[in-house]
Amino acid sequence: MNQQDDSTGRICSRLTPFGTTIFTTISRRANSVGAVNLGQGFPDEDPPEDLIQATIDSLRAGHNQYAPMPGIDSLRQAIADDQAGRGRGTWAASDEITVTSGATGALAASILGTLEQDDEVILFDPAYDAYPALVAMAGAKSVRLAPAAPEFRITRELIEKALTPRTRMILVNTPWNPTGRILDDGELGIIADICRQHDLICVSDEVYERMVFTAPHRSISTLPGMRDRTIVISSMGKTYSCTGWKVGWACAPPDLTAAIRAAHQFLVFSIPQPLQEAAARALNHHAEAWDETLTDSYQARRSFLLDGLREVGMQPIEPEGTYFILTDYTPLGDENDIAFCDRLLETVKVAAVPCSIFTRDGLGTRDYVRFAFCKPLTVLEEALKRLRGLQRL
Ligand SMILES: Cc1ncc(COP(=O)(O)O)c(C=O)c1O
Repeated sequence: MNQQDDSTGRICSRLTPFGTTIFTTISRRANSVGAVNLGQGFPDEDPPEDLIQATIDSLRAGHNQYAPMPGIDSLRQAIADDQAGRGRGTWAASDEITVTSGATGALAASILGTLEQDDEVILFDPAYDAYPALVAMAGAKSVRLAPAAPEFRITRELIEKALTPRTRMILVNTPWNPTGRILDDGELGIIADICRQHDLICVSDEVYERMVFTAPHRSISTLPGMRDRTIVISSMGKTYSCTGWKVGWACAPPDLTAAIRAAHQFLVFSIPQPLQEAAARALNHHAEAWDETLTDSYQARRSFLLDGLREVGMQPIEPEGTYFILTDYTPLGDENDIAFCDRLLETVKVAAVPCSIFTRDGLGTRDYVRFAFCKPLTVLEEALKRLRGLQRL
């Protein structure tokens, strides 16, 4: 599974290690062989009809020029209300919330806006692939820790061994893509303790906050002393089935928000107003009902894919949150995860993502691949039908 294009000669040295994202590569290959794509995590459904209508109405109402840099008032207020309504703390729409180009834009602005050259950022592998690339763009260094599979538990010892005088930030992701874990109170408490003791910024990526199956989501920003040092990041793409709209946000205290906005204004300046209006409508009118519908329908798909993967001989880890299942595929073959995903694509035409690409050196994760279950049951059914035809190697 070659991630490198042949025309890479002019890419700067900070970015060459990262190649083309695995998601672009997988989706391109999946399309070219007519595979069922359980690789890239985008829902197949459309967003609720009134969100599409809100976008159209806004375009027709003439909102076709630059939106305000930090986001339109109504969306920032809707985000503030949504956070407060779900016990995630009170953020002021005026100077603590910034609307960004998806969660990725919020991550970029947070990292580029706060880090100095050579600062160190602690990440937990397997980690979403944008994190180390964005840290590199800032001229900072990723310190990638590898909690052991299949539990992926974060311990105090693991973090403390990695701290140096240059450590500036810890990046957490809960619910965690690709492990499917929800960090528990013990782990969040340890990270919070260390952030307070060492005066670190915590970036908390919570894009899957609404996709939880076994325990409620808890934001680390709500732990004592953490509100003043945490940047909470989320977006609407996953929840409202509109990943292509790229509307996200960052909630942070005023000094961190000023840093985020300092970068955001020069990265993209502002986000299309019609999509922001649709996002405000989603949070104001759909959040609760949509959450219930979403959870029920994802629960069903999660169980369906878990059972099916077991039936074909894999050993899936039950995800606590997100819409991904990480599974041990080794009962079906001795090759590594990259070769296994190649074989899946070439022989039975199903796309999955090798877990090792979310890590620095693949250690401990080469027995796992990730399947996305944010697809209609019929698509999951077809994928399982094809997987049943896979020969053991
Ligand atoms: C953990 C995590 N963070 C951020 C993102 C990006 O979110 P967005 O599409 O809103 O930029 C993703 C998308 O897959 C993700 O899995």
